[in-house]
Amino acid sequence: MTAEAFLQDFHHVATIGATPNNGVHRQAGTDEDRQTRDWFAGFAAEHGWEVRVDGIGNMFALLEFRPGAKFVLIGSHLDSQPLGGRFDGAYGVLAGLHAAARIEANVRAGGELPPFNLAVVNWFNEEGGRFAPSIMGSSVYAGIMDRGQMLDVRDLQGVSVREALTGIGYLGTDEAPEPVSYAEIHIEQGRILEREGLTIGAVDSSWYTQKLDIEVLGEQSHTGATAMADRHDALVAASKIVLMVHDVTGNFEEEALVSSVGQLTLEPNSPIVVARRVHLVADLRSNSPEIVKSARDSLLADVAALAEEHDIRINVKDFDIRANQYYPESGVELTEKMAANLGLGVRRIQTMAGHDSVAMNRIVPSVMMFIPSVDGVSHCEREFTTDADMLAGLDALTEVALELVNG
Ligand code: GLV
Ligand code: MN
Ligand code: MN
Ligand code: MN
Repeated sequence: MTAEAFLQDFHHVATIGATPNNGVHRQAGTDEDRQTRDWFAGFAAEHGWEVRVDGIGNMFALLEFRPGAKFVLIGSHLDSQPLGGRFDGAYGVLAGLHAAARIEANVRAGGELPPFNLAVVNWFNEEGGRFAPSIMGSSVYAGIMDRGQMLDVRDLQGVSVREALTGIGYLGTDEAPEPVSYAEIHIEQGRILEREGLTIGAVDSSWYTQKLDIEVLGEQSHTGATAMADRHDALVAASKIVLMVHDVTGNFEEEALVSSVGQLTLEPNSPIVVARRVHLVADLRSNSPEIVKSARDSLLADVAALAEEHDIRINVKDFDIRANQYYPESGVELTEKMAANLGLGVRRIQTMAGHDSVAMNRIVPSVMMFIPSVDGVSHCEREFTTDADMLAGLDALTEVALELVNG
């Protein structure tokens, strides 16, 4: 398929759940997610590819060259963060679909059947903005997360994954294809490629990440009538925790640890009520597991002291712990070689962001590729990558996937 057809499809999908400032709002299991899924199924149907939906909402478009053979999987995710960017995830799925169409044409023209089949995948809930943890669909597929448990996860409104997927008609029962390898292309979400004027990142490893689920339990009371000395304000303690999570990075070398509280919910959230309960989620990431563990331990100690000082209860739970992944050398070299063949500037790079390939790499050799992000920003409406870089990445993914299909 042509470059123009890719751009047309990409910019069309970006209209689904479009926000005023060029972003998209397409959280997992919402009607906007359904619309992109319907579009994905339509693309596959036009090409005569069978679509399967598994029991956690992952969608697979199958190109069966050799019945019974295992599948090379390529893809990413169509869901987004709230008020997110239109490239994060969607680019990898669209590039996967168009690479598959090109590979099919190549195989049909070549005569000889490749040893492996190909499937394009749209993983369910990579973002984890509505249903935590993130990277859910691919992790269930990889056997790292339990399907039943994940179906019971609820969003802040109390809607479960099972209900959301059923509601949009995408809780499937199909058998997922058996994988032999996986490849994914994604925007970098950082600014290394841009700074160095390069087009392709060959991702060789991912950072160690973990989250902390923090529940601060104070006492609900009147903001006017309760004496200051008598208050057990959950929000005051939670505010100090937000600062602790930010400041703990100062214990280490600059940029060795990154951390944020990205989610905070307040109960009962009334102007005239001292907060009873605050729920926070902190995200800690570093290349070094020791640094994350040391930051986590020091936070736990500080939080315990804070609970005592404010005479309130604070419960902290570790969750979503992900070890560093090292992508196989053969795949990193394949990306480097294919980029060089296409005349594209390439370097090895790490990912600090989470990707479905982090889960897939646990079960099959996985290739992760990046293209540049303008200003290195992501998870926001301002996220941007040029058409030229998207097309270069599509060419590179096509070559990589073709090599994988040919064994
Ligand atoms: C989700 O987008 C993540 O980067 O972990
Ligand atoms: Mn993504
Ligand atoms: Mn993301
Ligand atoms: Mn991600």
